[in-house]
Amino acid sequence: MPSFDPAAVRADFPILSREIGGKPLVYLDNGATTQKPRRVIEALSRFFSHENANIHRGVHYLSREATDAYDAARALLKDRLRVAASHELVFVRGTTEAINLVTHGLAMRLREGDEIVLTIMEHHANFVPWQVLAQKTGAVLRFAGLRDNGELDLEEWKSFFNSRTRVAAFTHVSNVLGTINPVAEMTAFARGQGALVLVDGAQALPHGPVDLAAIDADFYVFSGHKVYAPDGVGVLVGRREWLDQMPPYQTGGDMIERVSVAGTTYRHSPERFEAGTPNISGAIGLAEAFRYLDGIDWEAANAHEHALLAHATEELTKIEGIRVCGSAPGKASVLAYHYASAHPHDVGTILDTEGVAIRVGHHCAQPLMDYLNVPATARASFAFYNNHDDVEAFIRAMRKVERFFG
Ligand SMILES: Cc1ncc(COP(=O)(O)O)c(C=O)c1O
Repeated sequence: MPSFDPAAVRADFPILSREIGGKPLVYLDNGATTQKPRRVIEALSRFFSHENANIHRGVHYLSREATDAYDAARALLKDRLRVAASHELVFVRGTTEAINLVTHGLAMRLREGDEIVLTIMEHHANFVPWQVLAQKTGAVLRFAGLRDNGELDLEEWKSFFNSRTRVAAFTHVSNVLGTINPVAEMTAFARGQGALVLVDGAQALPHGPVDLAAIDADFYVFSGHKVYAPDGVGVLVGRREWLDQMPPYQTGGDMIERVSVAGTTYRHSPERFEAGTPNISGAIGLAEAFRYLDGIDWEAANAHEHALLAHATEELTKIEGIRVCGSAPGKASVLAYHYASAHPHDVGTILDTEGVAIRVGHHCAQPLMDYLNVPATARASFAFYNNHDDVEAFIRAMRKVERFFG
């Protein structure tokens, strides 16, 4: 039976009891990467202590065991994400690689004058690969803007679709604004207009389960390290009809049907896109993270995250000169802000002296920074294991910044 006790979940994450410079660690950089529960750390240790072998290649016991564990990881994720079939779930290095794999695969399908609809809130990972694809093919990019509160301007976004639109790519949750886009509605609309849809789920999964059957996009991608799992592993979920038409992203071992000096034929997905030895331990750690997350009551966890966000926003905006970027209703627990009196790097450095870890800079969203007319921002991002003491330490540290610069 899933449950949620903020103190108990915190104890599941060993790193959270660390001190930084004699002060308790206050980890508010969850948008960049999340911490790992003991269960995931132990699963990795168990794998390397007991099961380590290469997969799909050996007839020996350990290789069979490692292959089974890797295949079981895929099956578990397929089940939890509600993916139609295992071959539609490809293990990749992360969100960035997944999107590059898709843009590479679509290069032959796009023609000069074809159109790709993006939004101005995209992370560079869901921006630059499309820009490169457009440069290669002569396709044209369209960028939908925002409302004042950081919501996507859906009317404008819809107005970009026409008979030349081939692709729509958009984020599920903005890593800066926290805006949660209505991805099922957007997917239905874009597909209804004949466009292929890619959804960047990197910032969605950390805040609870995502039902991919309900969203029904052509591609959905995310990174393991943002969802309490190891880095170097991520997931591309793709509709089979597209995956089987796309050329391999990399070639080599494990992805071939038959190789001869005359030529090579390739296997179908997922092997087609998993050339070479994959991140076996990463996939196993990712599955373990999902098992851990099964035990979380997400309604309660989300209410907790929202309470932290509301508390932090209320206290932060009492400081003169603070501008919060993004106030969409129901936004995820991401608090990006600009402080008129100090550069974000100075803000981050002073917070660090208090043991408070936040992210500062452009958050790999420079087009969004330009759009918001800020050079950079500071960002505190909360996970379910944060607590109100973290918020108070953050605000105390911001008051210190104010004393220096205000
Ligand atoms: C919305 C979004 N998309 C994509 C990425 C890229 O993820 P990765 O660096 O794991 O490939 C990030 C990382 O911050 C992100 O926040």
